[in-house]
Amino acid sequence: MKKNIAVLSGDGIGPEIMRQSIKVLNAIAKKFNHNFVYQEALIGAIAIQKTGDPMPKETLEICMESDAVLLGTVGNPNYDSDTKMRPEQGLLKIRKVMDLYCNIRPITTYDLLMNSSPLKMEYIKGTDFIIYRELISGIYFGKKGRSVDGKQAYDYCCYSSDEIERIGRDAFKAALLRKKKLTLVDKANVLETSRLWREIIKKISIDYPEVIVDFLLVDNASMQIILNSSRFDIILTENMFGDILSDESSVITGSIGLLPSASIGRKNAIFEPVHGSYPQAEGKNIANPLGCVLSAAMMLDYFELSNEAQEIRKSVANSIHNKKSTVDICKHKSLGTEEVGDFLSQYILNR
Ligand code: IPM
Ligand code: MG
Repeated sequence: MKKNIAVLSGDGIGPEIMRQSIKVLNAIAKKFNHNFVYQEALIGAIAIQKTGDPMPKETLEICMESDAVLLGTVGNPNYDSDTKMRPEQGLLKIRKVMDLYCNIRPITTYDLLMNSSPLKMEYIKGTDFIIYRELISGIYFGKKGRSVDGKQAYDYCCYSSDEIERIGRDAFKAALLRKKKLTLVDKANVLETSRLWREIIKKISIDYPEVIVDFLLVDNASMQIILNSSRFDIILTENMFGDILSDESSVITGSIGLLPSASIGRKNAIFEPVHGSYPQAEGKNIANPLGCVLSAAMMLDYFELSNEAQEIRKSVANSIHNKKSTVDICKHKSLGTEEVGDFLSQYILNR
């Protein structure tokens, strides 16, 4: 199978972890006789430095023409106080332009890493849920600004029933293939948008009678994720709650460096790790590449190459099991970023 893949390594540790994903994909291509053609493009701070724009037009064109986009990380502390031009604007723009409304973030645990989590084993055993986060609406994309005197600021949160329904149906379909449980996380005791979410989700739930639906307020949900994470199967939520809950959930797995994500629209898709650009680690060969590698696996699922995707997941599980991983999850005799990539690709090729 031939696939054109746009590669946006981005900032910080992005290029280092992306190299490992490409190594692993090349091993898969060789073993299963596929042809993956990569085209690199700029995004984020590096794109600002080279072109003056965090999301250059050329990058958008390359992404729109590709079969999928693999993304590293975006962000650079040098721009933290820059209100006009920020690397993250590149990410938000590409999500919006490509219409990637559905962000999927699986939270999986590995037995061997139970001790890496700061949480007690009894709380995290059996954790296996997926966050379905709405990605291109809500407070992130509402009108924002300042009053004339600059002393007031606002960010509007707005949702339409269509925006809720399209991701809602995707989440129900995902639940049908799993434990058939969907939890809508909202703040319906305060927010009108949340009340609309409940209304729409209740309405479409009639079409999925096998799925058990429950509703949880976000403050309570953030507690339940820590105290009782095995109760969750699919968590469906709006943009900002999903952003916050996914970082919180990463603590369960032992390292945010492990978490992959897919951002899916009707025609396009981006696959990227959940973690940020980790500038303190840049160039040190210590960053965990597994979140990026597992994102490549999600891309293969999207291409309907599920055996190949499973092969990547096996290689990751094997590296964790054999303690061939980076220092965040392997305190003694850890490997560097590049060596983990080599280990994974060798495993795939030699099996
Ligand atoms: C994420 C990130 C982004 C977001 C930032 C970098 C804009 O935190 O993908 O979770 O808030 O969506
Ligand atoms: Mg985030």
